This record gives sequence, C-alpha cells and structure tokens, in this order.
Amino acid sequence: MAQEELFHPPKDLVENSNIKAFMDKHGIADLDALLEKAQDHDWYWGEQARELEWFKPWDKVLDDSKAPFFKWFTGGKFNIVHNCLDRHMKTDVKDKIAYIYESEPGEVERWTYEQLHKEVNKFANALKKLGVKKGDRVTLFMPMIPQNPVAMLACAKIGAVHSVVFSGFSAGSLRDRLLDADSKVLITADGAYRRGKVVPLKHNADAAMAEAPCCKHCIVFKRAGNEVPMTEGRDVWWHDLVEGASDECEPEPMDSEDMLYMLYTSGTTGKPKGIVHVHGGYAVGTYSTLKFVFDLKPDDVYWCAADIGWVTGHSYIVYAPLMNGATSILYEGAPNWPEPDRLWQIIAREKATILYTSPTAIRMFMRFGEDYPKKHDLSSLRLLGSVGEPINPEAWRWYRENIGGGKLQIMDTWWQTETGNFMISPLPITPLKAGSATRPLPGIKADVVTQDGQPAKPGENGLGVLLKPWPAMLRTIYGDPDRYVQTYWSRFPGKYLMGDSVMKDSDGYFWFRGRVDEVLNVAGHRLGTAEVESALVAHRDVAEAAVIGVPHPVKGDVPKAYVTLKVGVEKTDALKDELKKWVGDQIGKIAQPDSIEFRDKLPKTRSGKIMRRLLKAEALGQDVGDTSTLEE
Ligand code: WT7
Repeated sequence: MAQEELFHPPKDLVENSNIKAFMDKHGIADLDALLEKAQDHDWYWGEQARELEWFKPWDKVLDDSKAPFFKWFTGGKFNIVHNCLDRHMKTDVKDKIAYIYESEPGEVERWTYEQLHKEVNKFANALKKLGVKKGDRVTLFMPMIPQNPVAMLACAKIGAVHSVVFSGFSAGSLRDRLLDADSKVLITADGAYRRGKVVPLKHNADAAMAEAPCCKHCIVFKRAGNEVPMTEGRDVWWHDLVEGASDECEPEPMDSEDMLYMLYTSGTTGKPKGIVHVHGGYAVGTYSTLKFVFDLKPDDVYWCAADIGWVTGHSYIVYAPLMNGATSILYEGAPNWPEPDRLWQIIAREKATILYTSPTAIRMFMRFGEDYPKKHDLSSLRLLGSVGEPINPEAWRWYRENIGGGKLQIMDTWWQTETGNFMISPLPITPLKAGSATRPLPGIKADVVTQDGQPAKPGENGLGVLLKPWPAMLRTIYGDPDRYVQTYWSRFPGKYLMGDSVMKDSDGYFWFRGRVDEVLNVAGHRLGTAEVESALVAHRDVAEAAVIGVPHPVKGDVPKAYVTLKVGVEKTDALKDELKKWVGDQIGKIAQPDSIEFRDKLPKTRSGKIMRRLLKAEALGQDVGDTSTLEE
C-alpha cells in the first residue's frame, strides 16, 4: 500500500490540547490507549455528560433493551438550552461575546451571552403567548441572522420541537416539510440578503402555507425591509410579538430522551426523512466532540462557516459552541461576495483562530487563486476543519498551505445529519494523511465491510458501518420508525449502515469515497436522485426521467438528468432550460440539473427498473459492465 506522507501535529498543540488534559487526568498514555479505554461507553460518555448541568442525574447511560431504538441517559432531567445559556449567567461567560454577527451588506453586531439569553427568553415567552407548548412542532425558514439561533433556542427552551428548513428551498419543499411535521407555527423573515439581492422568504412562505393548513401562525422578522403582505389573524411581526414580553423564562425540564428537533435530509425515495434528535445525548455528543476536536479554549474565536439550515449549523454553530461558552462568528451572506476575499477579511479583522468549512468552498477559493488570502493576515488561525464530502488531497494541501500558513492541522470530520456529531475525525493529537478523516473518535466504533457483511481487507473498498450506538445518534425518522429500521439497521443486523463507500488502510485510517445509495453530495449537501426525478416527471412534457451524479471540479457531484418526453413534444434547448428552472422551483436551486439529455428510451431491466448504473458508466466513459438484465 502506498505510504502517504504523515503530517504530525506540532508539539505545543498536542501538549496544550483539551484531549491531552483529559488523558492526563485519567492516566491514559496515548491515542490507542484512549480509543481502547473509551470503548467502555458507560465510563466515557458518563464522564462527558458530567460536565453539563442536569436538573436530575440519569439512572442509566445506555438502555439498549429495545435496539435499534436506543436510549441514552435515561431517567435524567435536562434542557440543552439551560446548558447553552442559563448556566453561563452564573460565570464570566455571561459578559463574553457569543456571536460576532456580520450581515452581507457589512453591519457588525456583537451579542453577549447575557443579551442572547434575554432575547431567547423574550421570544420563548412570545411563543408561549401564541399557545406553543411542549412537543409542538415549529418550522423555521430564516436567513443566517442571530434571530435564527434565537428562535431555535426559544423553541427548545420551552420544549417545542424545531424543524429548520434551509432558506434556499422552494415553497413546495417547505410545504412538504410543514405538512410532514404537522407544524403549527412558521417563523420566517420578510427577506434574506444573498449576493446583494433580496430573497423573498415571506413570499415563498405564503405559497407554502396556502397548502399547509396545519400552520396557524406565522411570525415574521423584519430583515430586508421588502414589502410583504401580512394575513390578518395568521401573520404577526416578530417585533410586535416580543413587545412587552418578559426577559425571564425558566427552561422546561425535559426528559433526556424528549425530542429537541427534527431536520430533513434526503434519502433514496422522493420523500425526505425527518431525522429526530433529542435533548440529552445530543447535547453530550456535540458538546464533547467540539471541545476535543476543535480544542476550544476560552479565548478562541471560532468560525463554522456553514448554514444553520443544515446539521453542521445546528450542532456546530448553535448548540455545541454555546454549551462550550465559545465566541463564534456568524456571517449572513455568500462567501465570495462582493469579492472572493470576504472570509479572509473577516478572519483578519476578528482574529479568528479556528475555521471550519467545506471542500466545495475550499475548491472555489482555490479557483480564485492564492492572491485573495495573501492580501490578509491570517496568522491568528490555529486550527482548520473540513466537512460535508471527501476532500481531495490537492484541496487539502492548498488549504493547509494558503490558509494554514503551511503548518496548520486540518480536522477532516466525517459525520451525518443522522449521527448528530463528528464520528470519524482527527483530534489535535492525531497524525494526519491528506484526504483521510483518520480514525473513529473516542467512544465510537466503526468498520468497513464487504457486500456480504464480512470485514473488508485493508485497502479494500467496502461499506462503512458503525458497530456501537452513540449518544447523539438519531432516535428515529419522524412518523416512520419502520423506515428508520429499514434504512439504517436492516442490511447488516446490529450494524448501522452509513451509506458511504469507504476504504480503511493498514494504519486503520478511513478514506471516504462518496455515497453508495442513489444519493448525491452536491456542494456538501445531500440530494436524492429520486427527488429530482419526481420533480422532473411532474412537468407536463416529461414522460420519464433518470438522474445520476457526475463529478464536478468544485461541487463534488452535480445532478445530470436523462429525460424522455411525452409523444409530440419537441426536443428543444429552451425546454431543457425550462426543466432546469422547473426543478429549481420545485425543490430549490441546489437540485437543478447541471445538464439534461433527451432520450427516446431509458435503459431498463426486464422488470422495468431504470438502470442508472449504465447511464453513469456511459456519462463517465467507463465500461458498462454486466448488462444481462437489460431489457434490450
Ligand atoms: C454525508 C452526510 C455532516 C454534515 C454535513 C453533511 C458525506 C460528510 C464527510 C467527510 C467524506 C463526508 C458522507 C455522509 N460526508 N462529511 N469529512 N468526508 N464525506 O451532512 O447532509 O447528512 O451528509 O456527507 O457521504 O454520508 P449530510
């Protein structure tokens, strides 16, 4: 096997790291010993959980009696928001900056923990005024502004369940998610800034609510000042609702296993899955992984440059940084607006110490060239991170060289919406290989198996599996427990199926190759080919559609569509453009096919299943392999 270059962590990083302090405290000598000892999950996760405040301690760390419906910290009473905010009011964190917020047009706001605490309390009381109660679902469709975390935290504080929908999704996608969650309240804004333009969020929200009668109230934050219609009796301005609301609100004491939020992610069918996370275990997992992987210290200025609409934002912009009492940067707009050095400018000004972003963003910056980062002093940075898709070694090296001054370690964190927190990732003490997420974190057990479930040999590509439950794991798919069991636990009993193709090398390092199911990873966002296909066939001119993912130099994968048209419809370029736009309107811009080809027929099996594999082999100029099941 090829001997990749090892990038050893600098000595001072190792010596001063949080993970080293933890190891010293427990007399653990090295990484191998740590991973070994942490397999005692009662001990390891119990230790982590004790750093948070519980209204009532748990009886049992893990209850696996109804596997795969695992329960963690059972018997405990807890509220994640108490740990994000209330408990800091007794310490110096109270006056610390929680968020340095920069709007796309350039205004900067600094929110202290105390301010954030008060705003959350006011909004929580306002939600109560509307009749929102423990267990009610509240959907958020908001820009990347501080009121987005405020709304999430307010829901969680009173025990309501939030469902955040990425603001780039279409009205139809929002409607489906409102209906599936049976949401009673929608929180949105008049508009959001993106590349100097105003995205009409309320307009989309209106179209969605018109077909989602479950939604009785809409709270609108005035952000962009664009004209919006307000429906009497249903719509209310945020500022009117919070007026006169008290800035004190006691957190609802929740059971550890009570629902915190649901977040939709794509799967292999046209219907997205509402992934369910809970208060207790999710808090423990996200809190401890951020503390150890990004090594948060009181003086760090940490920037997770993701969107709150995805799990990265939930776990590592909102919950984990706040539980850790960290100072985070929150930026509203596009990273290359108005110029490709927006990020570098903010890092230099705020003396940011940690940057966590995606391979797609890194490849985009690579294209703009190294002059943009060179214009700014990035020497405050001490750690880098990557997430969302495999990072190719060239992008890894560019990132280390041009953003990391040729010396910073890169935490390539593999995880999923379902896992809630980092699973396979370096720690500051881990030697790195460019392009590998390295090894499972303490308390996590992962492996690679062949198609029939046998352990794969070192160097062999196989299916990634998780061999033990973990505290921040998804609990179920909202309203569909059978799909939960079927999707994740049925292929290999007792093993969680990641859905990723993985190779483990002879040093036990994991190399992620991409998804194995009919799911693409477009710019780090998961998209099911079935979703794009069902949007296409909903068009009046389309008879059949097959969608595959093809590699793209910046975005990782992009959807490519093969379409057969209804009889008599002409194959024109104008129709291709119309179909692209149609998919964008149906799902959201990220789902727009990069290219569309019209065909007279699609390759099918004798039983009528479209053989996407053949289309893919053809698109990539590869051998089409076994075609014995092809109809003709
Ligand atoms: C899928 C999960 C986790 C937050 C963002 C995406 C891919 C994620 C990595 C990584 C290689 C990665 C996997 C995974 N993925 N991180 N570091 N290296 N691949 O969350 O939308 O739930 O997607 O993203 O394919 O299964 P998600």
